[in-house]
Amino acid sequence: MDHRTKGEMCRERTGTGNGERARPGAGKGIKVRNGERNGAGNRDGGSAEKAVRADLHVHSTCSDGSEDLRGILARAAGLGLTHLAFTDHDCTRYAGEAQRLGAETGVAVIPGVEISASDRTTGRKVHILGYDYKRPEPIEAVCAPILRRRHENCLKQIGILRDLGYCISEEAVAPYAAGGTFYKQHILKYLYDTGQSPAVFGDVYRTVFKNGGPCDFDIEYAEAVEAVRAVAEAGGYAVLAHPGQQQNFDLIPELVRVGLSGIERNHPANTQKHRELISRLAADNGLFCTGGSDFHGIYEAKGQPLGSVLAPEDCPLPGLVLIKD
Ligand SMILES: [Fe+2]
Repeated sequence: MDHRTKGEMCRERTGTGNGERARPGAGKGIKVRNGERNGAGNRDGGSAEKAVRADLHVHSTCSDGSEDLRGILARAAGLGLTHLAFTDHDCTRYAGEAQRLGAETGVAVIPGVEISASDRTTGRKVHILGYDYKRPEPIEAVCAPILRRRHENCLKQIGILRDLGYCISEEAVAPYAAGGTFYKQHILKYLYDTGQSPAVFGDVYRTVFKNGGPCDFDIEYAEAVEAVRAVAEAGGYAVLAHPGQQQNFDLIPELVRVGLSGIERNHPANTQKHRELISRLAADNGLFCTGGSDFHGIYEAKGQPLGSVLAPEDCPLPGLVLIKD
């Protein structure tokens, strides 16, 4: 850990970060009728079809992604993506804006969210994706306390960093949090931009925020069943995110009982074995499968490019109006 003086660490510098280069998404396209836009499912019955390329797991500056909605949509259009779901953590506030921007760009945007939840019995993390919800209030009721706790947690971390000698304040980090809630990525980027850390995910991240460091503490999340129920109540489709990453396959039956609709199969953290298991579990439990890149821009140490992982062919989200050949 770098314990420089405040004067040394307050030197401003404008780092550009370790930006990643997007590459065209992989995967065979699905077919969709022309005229369907913005997840509204307004099929026009036309005969012309085009390949669907849907990235259903994308984070923006509305939570802990480094790129804003407009920039991501412009790049998505350039990559030939037809559909996108912004799944910002615990945040539905920008779904309408995202859909409007999507309409301008020609990319259909499906309302999305990723709820930070856990299994109270074991303490394991359980991320629940919510898609195509009609009214966000039930989701917001579950997410508002999470956002509040997350923000307060970051303020605590900022105080600890200041006690350690870093030059940092709430006001200094605020411009990094476009969605209004602080995430540790915002703190890390600020430290990097001001020359107080040589990399966003460098020594400060490893020694202060991880591995038992002074800022290595987390918040209380929603209960997984509560998150699934909220999405269902919102008129949406609840999907278990990347179970290969969090090893929570065994929770699926319980989550199905409270309204789970799908499992995220195509995800960078799911191995081929995980994907085969997910396909079996989906078939056994009457669930559909989804997929996406979990794009965070430079705010993920080993993040995947936008559009590098796409929804599978058999993903029948109503908002997508997918049509099998
Ligand atoms: Fe995610």
